[in-house]
Amino acid sequence: MGKDRTQNQNDKIQQLERNGEDADGQTLTTNQGLRINDDQNSLRAGVRGPSLLEDFHLREKITHFDHERIPERVVHARGSAAHGFFQVYESMAPYTKAKFLQNQSVQTPVFVRFSTVVGSRGSADLARDVRGFAVKFYTEEGIFDLVGNNIPVFFIQDALKFPDLVHAIKPEPHHEMPQAASAHDTFWDFISLMPESMHMIMWVMSDRAIPRSFRMMEGFGVHTFRLVNDKGRSRFVKFHWKPVLGLHSVVWDEAQKISGLDPDFHRRDLWESIEQGAYPEWELGIQIVEEKDEHKFDFDLLDPTKLIPEELVPVKRIGKLTLNRNPDNFFAETEQVAFHPGHLVPGIDFSDDPLLQGRLFSYTDTQLIRLGGPNFHEIPINRPVVPVHNNQRDGHMRQTINHGRVSYQPNSLGGGCPMQAGREMGGFITYAETLDGGKVRARSEKFFDHFSQAALFWNSQSHPEKAHIVQALRFELGKVEVPAVRTRMVGLLAQVDKTLAGLVAQGLGIPVPAKVDGPLNLSVPADGDIKRFQPKSRVPSLDRSPALSMASTVKDTIKTRRIAVLAADGVDATAVGRMKKALMAEGAQVKVVAPRLGVLSGTKGAEINIDISFLTAGSVLFDAVYIPGGEQSIETLKGDAKALMFVKEAYLHCKAIAATDAGIDLLLAAHPAQDKTALSHAKGVQPNERTLLRVDEGIIASRSDKNGHVAARFIHAIAQHRHWE
Ligand code: HEM
Repeated sequence: MGKDRTQNQNDKIQQLERNGEDADGQTLTTNQGLRINDDQNSLRAGVRGPSLLEDFHLREKITHFDHERIPERVVHARGSAAHGFFQVYESMAPYTKAKFLQNQSVQTPVFVRFSTVVGSRGSADLARDVRGFAVKFYTEEGIFDLVGNNIPVFFIQDALKFPDLVHAIKPEPHHEMPQAASAHDTFWDFISLMPESMHMIMWVMSDRAIPRSFRMMEGFGVHTFRLVNDKGRSRFVKFHWKPVLGLHSVVWDEAQKISGLDPDFHRRDLWESIEQGAYPEWELGIQIVEEKDEHKFDFDLLDPTKLIPEELVPVKRIGKLTLNRNPDNFFAETEQVAFHPGHLVPGIDFSDDPLLQGRLFSYTDTQLIRLGGPNFHEIPINRPVVPVHNNQRDGHMRQTINHGRVSYQPNSLGGGCPMQAGREMGGFITYAETLDGGKVRARSEKFFDHFSQAALFWNSQSHPEKAHIVQALRFELGKVEVPAVRTRMVGLLAQVDKTLAGLVAQGLGIPVPAKVDGPLNLSVPADGDIKRFQPKSRVPSLDRSPALSMASTVKDTIKTRRIAVLAADGVDATAVGRMKKALMAEGAQVKVVAPRLGVLSGTKGAEINIDISFLTAGSVLFDAVYIPGGEQSIETLKGDAKALMFVKEAYLHCKAIAATDAGIDLLLAAHPAQDKTALSHAKGVQPNERTLLRVDEGIIASRSDKNGHVAARFIHAIAQHRHWE
């Protein structure tokens, strides 16, 4: 990057374009550039004879096809990505010398990949799982990767346990089941013996593990890192991504149905939002801890199973990430991108978190085999936007043609080049942390409080969030077949909260064990020192942390929300038009869903295009439902089981529903019997009602909506996301 110009979001795009290929108006060729005359018939000895070995076109085409697949990622195999840029709000010079965090006019290009962890490349997006949130910053000082997740803590404290964790959660090795699911014996067997995972388990059983959209989830660097300023002063830092559209999830029943109706739900949502110009945005937040405060918390900053409550250290929002361009080619970009938590720039450094330290080894190691050799940094998506000069040479698929005969340091024949960069030239200098201590296989004492923050998370949840956690645990443990594993898990939950354990046990039809059996972690070392591995009792530093609940997230927008308008022939065209206009003015997407595809004839001779039929749509693919009037339309829909199911499910998933005029009759027809009575009696939905009825927060109904009041109420209701009452 030249010194005299500001870095721009297009820098990476322009670099990628140099590798682009566009076949428009071109002739078909072999890989050697030879023009191909016939791509329909292989070369044969006679029209009915055998194929000939000399058919180089056939051989080249089939050989290339045979080698199209590469190994999928050992974890995070299922993912989707997009390009964009990052811009800091104001200089972060007091904290870090990282150049991309100095100047608000700098737009640092980024490539961001979201993923699930457990499932294979082709698995469904809505699995209950952690989501990866990996950001590659192409800065003017080289690449910085922030390889995080959507949950701020992790299952384990030491990298040595990562292969065990992943073996336990992946499909069981004898029959390769289940796909993309933690609900099976080996996972819960492992967890029930790893009390350090209890905090993470609370998060993974919460709705955070089934996001509404990648665009509506938080991201976290998880580990404690360091920021270092130009005076060499270091502070500890935790990184956060805060979604501008707020933090929203679906419910588990929906997630399971979405997995069937649209396994690409999150991928499609990301792609379509960017295509429509509704660019996803997050703010980057940092929590800063001074070096002198390292030991002031009752947990260890190096322990990745702990977070720093925002009430103790506020999150300072320092910049914005915007995703504004879809990749041109999934394989070349999304599949071949190689993230690494060890890709740093001057001004950012590691902490001694033992999980992070192990990760620093793992990523390059796995990419060597996944991407086929040591030159994967030359793949266009992985190249920095600054030049690379070093004495590394050769290897599979080397593309750089290094000039000259010098490939060593020190040298005189090359004038000493490439030369080392001093501090003033932007050379990376590792933070000179002072270390003491013997070589030991041991953890710090503070790591052994496994339950305080799990309890903090539980105590901070709203009532519906708690209910969902209980349901999730009942589901997951209900799939476990070995009774002892269930019992051990309920015993561990009792260490977090007795009510939680009781509710889960009730669903499983077992008692809460009075006492947890034996050592909670059976991995007793050879010297038999069980104490070393036993959890300590809780030392809560805080009773509640409102920031841990999703209930208080942003609820002031319906931008990009998908609203279904249920209609059939004879639908009230004026009502449809008015509602559509109001919703779209707020940035929502409106889709007309009908019993068939084609065009509907609405009232007053209006023609209305149908977007989707009930055959391919389900209410789970939408955020809210509007039922316009029109006697004939409603009569048709009342006789359509799929239309009734659509409304009923939207209601059961607590989504906003609006109905006008005869539309109210479909709403009533679809309601479960007990709720129907409540709805019509208690709130007075009467056939001749003339006034606007706000039946409850989530259901807005009116027999006469001449002034269009329903739309305004409906928009407010959709922005609330869900109406648990
Ligand atoms: C010792 C613990 C861990 C190990 C050994 C490990 C290892 C791996 C490996 C081998 C991959 C596949 C990389 C590739 O093929 O390109 C991967 C991907 C990933 N890991 Fe980890 N991981 C660990 C912990 C974590 C943690 C704590 C986080 C979150 C903070 C995390 C976030 C990710 C993400 C987001 C990806 C996907 C990157 C992408 O989109 O390509 N991992 N990890």
